[in-house]
Amino acid sequence: MKLAVLPGDGIGKEIVAQAVKVLEVLKREGAGIEMEYGNIGGVGYDAEGDPLPESTLKLSKQADAVLLGAVGGPQYDKLDRPLRPERGLLRIRKELNLFANLRPALLYPELAGASSLKPEVVSGLDIMIVRELTGDVYFGQPRGIEIRNGERVGFNTMIYSESEVRRVAHVAFGIAMKRGKRLCSVEKANVLECSELWRDVVAEVAKEYPEVELSSLYVDNAAMQLVKNPKQFDVIVTGNIFGDILSDQASMLSGSIGMLPSASLDENNKGMYEPIHGSAPDIAGKDIANPLATILSVAMMYRYTFADMATADRIENAVKKVIAQGFRTGDIWTEGTTRVSCSGMGDEVVAAL
Ligand code: IPM
Ligand code: MG
Repeated sequence: MKLAVLPGDGIGKEIVAQAVKVLEVLKREGAGIEMEYGNIGGVGYDAEGDPLPESTLKLSKQADAVLLGAVGGPQYDKLDRPLRPERGLLRIRKELNLFANLRPALLYPELAGASSLKPEVVSGLDIMIVRELTGDVYFGQPRGIEIRNGERVGFNTMIYSESEVRRVAHVAFGIAMKRGKRLCSVEKANVLECSELWRDVVAEVAKEYPEVELSSLYVDNAAMQLVKNPKQFDVIVTGNIFGDILSDQASMLSGSIGMLPSASLDENNKGMYEPIHGSAPDIAGKDIANPLATILSVAMMYRYTFADMATADRIENAVKKVIAQGFRTGDIWTEGTTRVSCSGMGDEVVAAL
């Protein structure tokens, strides 16, 4: 298996290094994994003048899967928009056609106290958010900032074609079939035409999955329900921007955004795997970031791209074990547990493996 490794900016390098430790263990045991590194985001701009250098795109296209750290940093905020780190990330998603973004929000029982919600509200939480990733207001044209009637206006276009909605709906229904068979489609159909189409197309696709119970919620209500009674959800499917927001919100139910991995898949389950958190420039280089989301992203890689469920389970069980043993990075630390560094956490996961 060829793996493109793109650590990116901020804490990206240190968290990816821990995930690579896990991959090295599997390699030593005989797994055929080849890793090649590339630049993306701010480091891509610094090294090659482009947040998604041609060489990185080529490497990623040739690879079976991509492991990504994070992109972005305040030093890049003043660059022309196309040169900013985030654009590199958006472009690689688009270029690789990674339209289905899977973001699980799972609570490890021992971390119930680290959530900002009451333990009884979040204990047992296990939600899968399926976020559409290559459409919506993120990519719609026209977009820009220009002068109209003597003042600046900023504009973007929210747009979905039915084929875009249909393909992500199929992914979501497929996942629901393997889980609790309940799917909630989230949109804003009371206001937006784009959402009206979304809701209609999802309802059409539902006919092919009679066993799945489909519901729909407006995004504002969904945001409220997520903190009021998050356990009502099994699988959520939603568009790019709503999924961006709701997945950050859902992550805090599970104690820390530092715990949550993600998979971004194309039609053939080729994928890019990354933690859902960002580059956290404030703590970069201090060896205190939580590498578990990145390590769990490797587990997702085994599950979805390599279809090796045993190895995926093994990595996830190793993470469960270190949590049960009481090891915590700062973001999930609570009284009575053992604080470890980023690299220390990586070592513990390797030991548990
Ligand atoms: C995410 C991030 C990205 C997004 C940013 C960094 C462009 O927030 O993956 O959720 O908005 O998709
Ligand atoms: Mg986000």
